[in-house]
Amino acid sequence: MFDVEKLRCDFPALSVLRNKKRIIFLDSAASAQKPKIILDKMNYVYQHEYANVHRGMYYFSERATELYEDSRKKIQKFINAKEVEEIIFTKGATNSINLVAYTWAEQNLTDKDNIIITRAEHHSNIVPWQIMQKRKNFKIKVAEVDDDGNLDIEYLKNLVDENTKLICCAQVSNVLGTIFPVKEITKFAHNHSIKVLVDGCQSTPHMAIDVQDLDCDFYAFSGHKIYGPTGVGVLYGKKEILENMAPFEGGGDMIKNVSFSGSTWADIPARFEAGTPMIVQAIGLGYAIDYISLIGMADVYAEDRKLLKYMQDAIEDLKDFKILGKSTNKIAVVSFVPTFTHPQDLAMILDQEGICVRTGHHCAQPLHEKFCTKSSVRASLGVYSDKNDVDALISSLHKAKKFFI
Ligand code: ALA
Repeated sequence: MFDVEKLRCDFPALSVLRNKKRIIFLDSAASAQKPKIILDKMNYVYQHEYANVHRGMYYFSERATELYEDSRKKIQKFINAKEVEEIIFTKGATNSINLVAYTWAEQNLTDKDNIIITRAEHHSNIVPWQIMQKRKNFKIKVAEVDDDGNLDIEYLKNLVDENTKLICCAQVSNVLGTIFPVKEITKFAHNHSIKVLVDGCQSTPHMAIDVQDLDCDFYAFSGHKIYGPTGVGVLYGKKEILENMAPFEGGGDMIKNVSFSGSTWADIPARFEAGTPMIVQAIGLGYAIDYISLIGMADVYAEDRKLLKYMQDAIEDLKDFKILGKSTNKIAVVSFVPTFTHPQDLAMILDQEGICVRTGHHCAQPLHEKFCTKSSVRASLGVYSDKNDVDALISSLHKAKKFFI
């Protein structure tokens, strides 16, 4: 049974008071709060099980290595990757996408080629491609979303030609919350020998992921959005693709042999994990996966959908708040623009009430352009969000509206 009141007790941040009121945390899409048990366990590793990994034949180093590699196995299971070597630890999803841009794209794309991204991408799935475009001169085509925030899949299919080599798509939009049909995209792409990179940042906290079922070639996500620490993320890549990719960064642990006549690279995943990695963060991500898996992703998804509907309906009922994207296939996120004031002013008022929301373009300027606005207010949910949170938001929005109108 999903018991939100019990879950809430796991998160110390939710007991913090602001202006004598409890914090209402509605910014989980930016970064989720952390359960105490994960923080305690990470602290324990630092105090009792810590040393550098893959480098020592003594107890601490072997123990830390074991924990680090255990975490990789937990991630493999969490996203149902076929092989554990397909899991690469990175600094976060941005770093994962850059890794693919600087290795796979650098090696495989020419000025004859094009790639497709969508208008709904976070900047982290736009800018790395633009940077690499400057070096390789490939074309970037943009798939559109409709007024409800659904991906126009026919439009995307029509962009494909014989020179299309890669499609990059978020599984869930960080602004709209829309779930995009990445499995359908992958199937179509593979029929045309096109690779697919999925940004799973906003989906991994809310739904079960099966990369074998999606059949995507790359999948990126961040640890801090699934209740784990900052500074760690994951790049999944199909083994045969990763094995043929050159390293991203050079340094310790990613080599087989180094000499002044030339060096050779380690096998995957070590080839892509140069230098001392983010040891305890990677282990902490494994603990976060234990935590969220124990709740059960099916229940997380179901509860999330219910609360999202409750929140979206309530915001809509208030009038005077234009909701961006009202697809029926969405999770966890509602972004809206007040008709009577600037989103920033509204967020400042909400902050006085202890309500934490994100304001601005949410690193998705092209998507905001589509909705004819530069910014919006975004309320996003986590496993600890409850009806009281939503009621507090609605009551504060109501107050703000009365103040301005
Ligand atoms: N990607 C994060 C967000 O959408 C930071 O807020």
